[in-house]
Amino acid sequence: MNRESPQSGIPKAVVPIIIDTDPGIDDALAILLAVRWTRCHLKSVTVTYGNTTLDLATRNARLVMARGGCDATVRPGWDRPLIRPLVTAKETHGKDGMGDLVLPPAEPVEPGTSALRDALAEVDHPVTLITLGPLTNLALALRQNPDLVRTRVARHVAMAGNIEARGNTGPHSEFNIWCDPEAAAEVFRAELGTELVGLDVTRKLVISSAAVQKLMVHPDEEAQWFGKLLSYYVRFHAKHEGLQGAVINDPLAIALAMEPSWGEMQSLPLRVDLSDGRMRGRTEVSSGSASHSRMQVYRQFDHHRVHKLLIEHLFGRWLTPADFKK
Ligand code: BDR
Ligand code: CA
Repeated sequence: MNRESPQSGIPKAVVPIIIDTDPGIDDALAILLAVRWTRCHLKSVTVTYGNTTLDLATRNARLVMARGGCDATVRPGWDRPLIRPLVTAKETHGKDGMGDLVLPPAEPVEPGTSALRDALAEVDHPVTLITLGPLTNLALALRQNPDLVRTRVARHVAMAGNIEARGNTGPHSEFNIWCDPEAAAEVFRAELGTELVGLDVTRKLVISSAAVQKLMVHPDEEAQWFGKLLSYYVRFHAKHEGLQGAVINDPLAIALAMEPSWGEMQSLPLRVDLSDGRMRGRTEVSSGSASHSRMQVYRQFDHHRVHKLLIEHLFGRWLTPADFKK
């Protein structure tokens, strides 16, 4: 299936994707972007713990899919890291994972170790896998059926990791890797050609607090929904990062998965820090003979194009590109 690009007249391919996610305020934006952007054909969603517990994350994923009018399957995955205790991010995403919106209660879900394997087994063509949470479900799929993962995942794009920016969980670490560093290390070792959309780039995608205020007070129901969702994130960033706005990580992974030419990538030898201390989950550029995996790491992106994309598919009725911080 092809769609015309209005600017060039050159047909742009529609890309089949599977999203693994832990909604999550920015995950919710990413899912809606994928649902509404005609370049993406969302085949299914698998859910992980992370920003919140698996049952709440599954409820949240289903609510967001319903808001976007997408009936693709949502499968709950595993509910905790491979070996470490479960820690969620209530202070960042609220008790319900969605900035404490008023939501219907979550049904209990049965955690599944094979959610991602099942999602991949069901597709008849290779897909782009976009992971927006801890890498546990992918590590489990690799343990269960590495050949299936290798043949069905044409590209793996992960919102994960950090090289030089300030960490968001400890001084250097990024939350998704920090949650389950052992799973991340297994995925890195598999050398799937994983492209990391980490804090080096996502920290530069910031919606301003003034824009979120505009959404909050707008009479439109959806503007208010976005406003409430993002206002929790704005309060978190003001308190913990001294930022007048919110870093919206996960939608950037969707953007660069569809349009890799909007970013600049570097191939780097990386290792995941598996210690228990402040460096837990750090993705470190490995020197000399230390064991490492070669990863593709986004270091820059075209802000103008990404702002335009988010305006077009998410906020266009109320905001302009000027509502993102430069
Ligand atoms: C990542 O962790 C979560 O807080 C966000 O949803 C994003 O996936 C950023 O480190
Ligand atoms: Ca996430």
